[in-house]
Order: sequence, then C-alpha cells, then structure tokens
Amino acid sequence: MAYDTILLETRGPVAFIRFNRPDKLNAMNSTMKDEIVAALQEMEADDAVRVLVFTGQGEKAFVAGADINEFKDRTALEQWDLYRQPFLYDAVDRFTKPVIAMINGYCLGGGCELALACDIRIASDRAQIGQPEINIGILPGGGGSQRLPRVVGLGKAMQLILTGDRIPAAEAHRIGLVDEVFPHDQLEAKTLEIASRIAEKSPVAVRLAKQAVKASARMGLDEGLRYEQAVFSLIFTTRDKEEGVRAFLEKRPPKWTGT
Ligand code: COA
Repeated sequence: MAYDTILLETRGPVAFIRFNRPDKLNAMNSTMKDEIVAALQEMEADDAVRVLVFTGQGEKAFVAGADINEFKDRTALEQWDLYRQPFLYDAVDRFTKPVIAMINGYCLGGGCELALACDIRIASDRAQIGQPEINIGILPGGGGSQRLPRVVGLGKAMQLILTGDRIPAAEAHRIGLVDEVFPHDQLEAKTLEIASRIAEKSPVAVRLAKQAVKASARMGLDEGLRYEQAVFSLIFTTRDKEEGVRAFLEKRPPKWTGT
C-alpha cells in the first residue's frame, strides 16, 4: 500500500514506520494518523515482520505533536468522534509484536503519547521530550495523562503535563521516560541491534511475554501473577518450547518455527 505521510521500510525482520513530514517536524495530521493505523494493520498481518520501529524522517523531529492547525476549527463533537475505533494510540498499544520508539529529535505532545504506547523507548542524545499541550490551553488527549504517570510516576508526570516543559534525553532517561540514550549518529544502528536481538527469539514466546508484561499495567499483583501462571502454562503447549529446551540441552542454537 502507498502512503503520503509515512515511509515503510523493512530490514530483515525489523520494520520501520517513518513519520514523513520533516518540514513540519513530523506533526501528525489526520492523514498521517490514518496511515499509521493502516500500516499497523499491514505489519500485524505480515509474519515476516517480527519487530516494529517508529521513527521520524529528517534530522530534527520524531513527532512534534498533533498538527495544531487541525485544532483551530474542530468542535467538541468532532473531537469525540475521533475517539471512535481505531484510535491511533490504542492501535499502537494493542499491536501484538514488540514496538520500539526510536526518538530521533523533538518528541512532543502526541509524539510523546505515541512513544508511551510503544514497548521500548530509545532516544538520541539530541532528543527533547515533553507534553506541551498546556501551552496552547489544552491537555494530553492521546493517553498522556494516563500512560505518563504509569511510566514516570505521578509527581513527574504532573510536573511535565502542568509546566509543558521539554526535557532533554538525559533527563528523560534519568526519570525512566526513555530506556536507552545513544549518540545521535549511532541511534539507528543501536536500535536495529536491539530490535534484531528480539527478532531472533521465538515469535510465539516474544508475543506471550509481551502480553504478560503489558498485563501488569492493567492488573493488580495477584491477578497479574495468576495471569502469568496461565500464560506460562500455555507456552508449554508450543513446539518452540520443546525446541528451545532441547537445543539448550543438546548445546546447539534453536530453530524456531513460531508454533
Ligand atoms: N503542529 C503543526 N505544525 C507544527 C507543529 C505542530 N505540532 N510543530 C511544528 N510545526 C511546524 C511549524 O509551524 C513550522 O511550520 P512553518 O515552517 O510552515 O511555519 C515547522 O513545523 C517548523 O517548526 P518551527 O516552530 O519553525 O521550528 P523551531 O525549531 O523553531 O521550533 C518547536 C520547534 C518544536 C519548539 C516548535 O515547532 C513547537 O513548539 N511546536 C509545537 C509543539 C507542540 O505544542 N506540540 C503539541 C501539540 S498539541
């Protein structure tokens, strides 16, 4: 499928979705949001894709937020309507394969919210991250008020959302908002390295492990532990469990079938 506002690229089992409006700092307009949702469906259905990476085209931005021009004449009812499925940030959250946000520059507003819906956030040392909605008299509407406190804690989330301040990558790393920071010129190679390591594992084990870890955000400890026990028992039905254990005992690399 051809897209106007994003670029799709695959490097072996790793697929990249690149936000492609660099002259607008990759601000997400409606077309881009729709195209990302369509691309996610495409990537979900493609068994050759094991790991997905989001990043921004150009040197300056991951995503500098939703396209503010579209807020100008939007009514409350029109906004409400936009939350009908498939809503972008939920679509990212529900994607069953690992998703990495490769944050190559400004990561603001909806960009930060999209990164928060990803599984791992890897930033360039030039990245700047924040939820600046308050500066234009609004608040995060793509999940930021709920996902940010779960990642950095209530106080830091409150500070970022109420001040609208942008923080540099090093500070974002210190508070746990990003998981790794690399020099800008090494960002892509290092991200590809991490994505490729995940892509080498059993896809069925990766999928269930992701599902179990994500459940921890929705469930209390007791419920989550029971869930893990069910998923762990389920993995014993797979060929990849047989193969992984046998390969270890026979001192050879495993050959995964994803079944
Ligand atoms: N929506 C629409 N357009 C945006 C945008 C956004 N969220 N962010 C940047 N742009 C556009 C600018 O309007 C400008 O377009 P123009 O060249 O046609 O005037 C272009 O991208 C470049 O941005 P500019 O502001 O000139 O770059 P800068 O380096 O001086 O500043 C930022 C960078 C990120 C600090 C600044 O663009 C900014 O504050 N953007 C808005 C961030 C925001 O509030 N996001 C949350 C929205 S809810």
